[in-house]
Order: sequence, then C-alpha cells, then structure tokens
Amino acid sequence: MLKVTNLYKSFGEQTVLNDISFELASGEIMCLRGKSGAGKTTLIRCICNLDKADSGTISINDIESLENGKPNKAYQNTVGMVSQGLDLFPNLNVMDNITLAPVSRKLMTKEEAEKNAQALLDSLEIGDKAKSYPSRLSGGEKQRVAVARACILSPSVLFFDEPTSALDIKATREVANLIEDIASRGISVVIITHDESFCDMLGARQIVIESGKIAN
Ligand SMILES: Nc1ncnc2c1ncn2[C@@H]1O[C@H](COP(=O)(O)OP(=O)(O)OP(=O)(O)O)[C@@H](O)[C@H]1O
Ligand SMILES: [Mg+2]
Repeated sequence: MLKVTNLYKSFGEQTVLNDISFELASGEIMCLRGKSGAGKTTLIRCICNLDKADSGTISINDIESLENGKPNKAYQNTVGMVSQGLDLFPNLNVMDNITLAPVSRKLMTKEEAEKNAQALLDSLEIGDKAKSYPSRLSGGEKQRVAVARACILSPSVLFFDEPTSALDIKATREVANLIEDIASRGISVVIITHDESFCDMLGARQIVIESGKIAN
C-alpha cells in the first residue's frame, strides 16, 4: 500500500534521513519513534509532499508522490495529516475548518462537503460542535476536528504527529479508540509518538529512527 524506498533528506550539512525504506499494509497501525530531532516529522512531511526528499521514491497503491519532480495531484488526496499543533484555523468554525479544502479544491460542492463533514462529526461524537470556534473546544475535541478535517478527503493513509503529548490517560485511551476505529475502516495510520505505552495500547508495529536510519 504505502511504499517508501531509499529516502534521503539533508538540511545543509546535516543528513536527517539516510536511506529509509519501509512498507505499510492497508488498515495497519504503525508507530514511529525516535529521539527528538531524529527526523520523524521530516519523514512524514516528505511522505505528505510538504517537504521534498533529496532522493528516493514514495508511492501509495502504486501512485507515485511526484510526477516530473512536482507533487502528483492524484497522490495528494490519498494522504492526510494531523499535525503536532493541530493547525485549526482560529477564525473559522468547526464546519468551515473541515469543508475548506474539499470546497476550495473543487472536489465537492459546499452542500456535499457539509453533509460529509456533519456525518464525520456525528461519528466522532461531536456533532453538536459544528458551529463552534476552535477556542471554545477542549483539547480532545480539537483533536477530533483535526481528524475529521484530515478524513474528509478519504485518505488511504493518515499521519498523526504526537497526538497524545498533551493528553491525560483517559484522553489518550480515547485517541487510541479513535485510531483503531479509523484503521477498521481500512485507512492505514502512522503515529509519531514518544509514548511506548500508547504503542502497546494499540498493539501497533513500531519502527525507530536512529541516526537517519531505521533501527531494530
Ligand atoms: N526546515 C528545516 N531547516 C533546517 N533544518 C531542519 C528543518 N526541519 C527540520 N530540521 C532539522 O532536522 C532534524 C530533524 O527534525 P524533525 O523535526 O524531523 O525531528 P523530530 O524527530 O520530529 O523531532 P521531535 O521529536 O522533537 O518533534 C532536526 O535536527 C531539525 O533541526
Ligand atoms: Mg517532530
């Protein structure tokens, strides 16, 4: 499904990704660990075409991430990312946060996007928050909105960057349930985390980045 082959990335003199290869099956949950500065976020940014690797290839269901060196449009909607800071737009309500991308990219009409967004919010049990602004939501609710926003384009792979770093044990369990629910729909999930007990909770495969390579 997701296939990363011989990926290299340097920032100036510093080699951050030094020949990274791995594969991920559909519906699989995988944890990506490694020390601060190991290159975890960089790897995921490269896979999501937010950063460009120096060499190597990335494909999802045999669709390559780049086409003639430029981000491949057919690839772009197959990846979704819930970033470290969640990055919700503070000036937009929940509904508009979720529908902005599909509507502005002309992938859905506003009506379609709103119907899909509401269904996602309902399934995440925050159906009554559509008109709320992010500043009025709890940490866990913001997390769900970010998940809904990443899911509306039906990605094949969803990436989470440190989803539990600010959460207590109860909220961490809720995120684990949410991720299991996403995976049960056939979406593969990659989670960057320092939290080993969270990986164990998910029973997920773990890979560790060390000195730019995959250890273990
Ligand atoms: N745009 C950039 N320009 C220069 N160096 C960068 C850039 N982005 C990341 N780096 C460097 O690349 C290395 C890896 O950064 P990255 O953010 O991928 O680490 P990380 O494993 O996600 O760390 P953390 O656990 O702290 O989030 C770091 O040394 C960082 O300083
Ligand atoms: Mg990071």
